[in-house]
Amino acid sequence: MGYLEIISPNIIIVNMQTLHAEQLEALQRIVFPNLAEAELLHAEQYKKHVEIFPGGQFVAMDGDKVIGATSTIRYHFDINQQEHHTFYEVMGGGWFTTHEPGGDWLYGMDVSVHPGYRGKGIARALYRARQHTCLQLGLKGQMTVGMLNGYSSVADEMRIDEYYEKVKSHELFDPTVSVQEKIGFKIVGLMKNYLNDSTCGNAGAVIVMDVNVMI
Ligand SMILES: CC(C)(COP(=O)(O)OP(=O)(O)OC[C@H]1O[C@@H](n2cnc3c(N)ncnc32)[C@H](O)[C@@H]1OP(=O)(O)O)[C@@H](O)C(=O)NCCC(=O)NCCS
Repeated sequence: MGYLEIISPNIIIVNMQTLHAEQLEALQRIVFPNLAEAELLHAEQYKKHVEIFPGGQFVAMDGDKVIGATSTIRYHFDINQQEHHTFYEVMGGGWFTTHEPGGDWLYGMDVSVHPGYRGKGIARALYRARQHTCLQLGLKGQMTVGMLNGYSSVADEMRIDEYYEKVKSHELFDPTVSVQEKIGFKIVGLMKNYLNDSTCGNAGAVIVMDVNVMI
């Protein structure tokens, strides 16, 4: 039996399938206009993800239309001694060849919600689907490196390290990482030179959610 959560009469969360691939690529271009082409996920890559790790890929659908998605791999990650990697490296150039079948964390590569459908709890539902996978597979929980998107508005006032500390201490609210924290993640580190996007100082915040957190 596949995963199913009914959000509203029209909107549901289900496992991703290869037939969604073209719509998923189109959604990436709408949601991440600033990302380099190599850092966007493409249709052929989505097909590969479904083949490699079907239990880690979910879509939000409005009828036949893909309006949200999340992509993950299993990965070994030591929170106390955090390795450095770039987004491009950890996602195997988009192909998820980095998926470790015995990995103890569910590593989120992407959460995307179409701009016309935001604020309806769809991201929260996608993270909940990920929690379900963590529980089923007996993982420690889910983790990701959240983009510090709000940095662009204060970039001429402070360095990214300082911005990260202010977001962590709740002095500043980041539109992505603070929302992820609100959903149930804990901020545990700064990953510099993670991706090519000056709006977030090329950095992300390492965030984790224990498998026992109910969202
Ligand atoms: C970040 C993103 C995935 C959120 O999607 P969403 O479906 O609108 O989020 P939800 O409706 O599930 O909101 C989850 C929580 O965050 C809150 N929230 C969402 N956006 C917010 C904002 N800009 N400011 C304050 N709170 C916000 C909601 O109120 C909700 O909290 P609640 O359930 O306690 O009320 C979406 O905006 C997006 O696709 N952004 C661009 C891509 C991105 O940054 N992805 C994440 C990093 S890969």
